[in-house]
Amino acid sequence: MATNSISVRPAEDGDRRSLALLLAAVAEERDGIAAEPPIDVEKLAARWEIDGTLIAVAEGDLVGQIHIDPSWMGFGDIGMMVAADWRGRGVGTALVAAAIDWALAHGLHKLALGVFPHNQAAIVLYRKFGFVEEGRLRQHVRRADGQLWDLIEMGLLL
Ligand SMILES: CC(C)(COP(=O)(O)OP(=O)(O)OC[C@H]1O[C@@H](n2cnc3c(N)ncnc32)[C@H](O)[C@@H]1OP(=O)(O)O)[C@@H](O)C(=O)NCCC(=O)NCCS
Repeated sequence: MATNSISVRPAEDGDRRSLALLLAAVAEERDGIAAEPPIDVEKLAARWEIDGTLIAVAEGDLVGQIHIDPSWMGFGDIGMMVAADWRGRGVGTALVAAAIDWALAHGLHKLALGVFPHNQAAIVLYRKFGFVEEGRLRQHVRRADGQLWDLIEMGLLL
């Protein structure tokens, strides 16, 4: 699971703090993910679901993560993020590829996710792997400033 200098591996307990710091940094952008500041890094690190989390490592640092949450109904919900400095360099591609391998190895028949309509970088990435839009949840996510954002549901049959 490697793309040039990027390697992808399952997360371990020792990655908890780096994972929480990554999420806190991406939340500060108030753009691609639902979480917004303030993020309690210690609390998030302690409760992070390590099972089903894959991390991308480059130059010794955690630069991205994808989490697969398997349902007893056979699909897995995914959520992901890449550190801002590392975007556009194939990290997201390596993580989605690894998540598909993980899902197949765990007997899932489908991956599913929700993405904000303005998040073109993510939508392009998911479409590249064959995800298709399956629905749109209107004014689904209330933001800290009171805005209500739609959420596009995408799915990939494996
Ligand atoms: C979405 C995200 C994970 C993509 O990760 P990434 O490492 O930049 O992805 P990659 O470098 O592998 O790029 C994937 C594809 O998207 C394209 N792409 C990247 N940014 C783009 C943009 N702003 N607009 C259009 N296409 C874009 C790339 O060209 C690439 O396509 P290619 O392989 O045909 O060249 C990353 O931008 C991110 O973490 N964003 C913030 C958090 C977030 O939005 N998470 C997803 C929530 S649903």
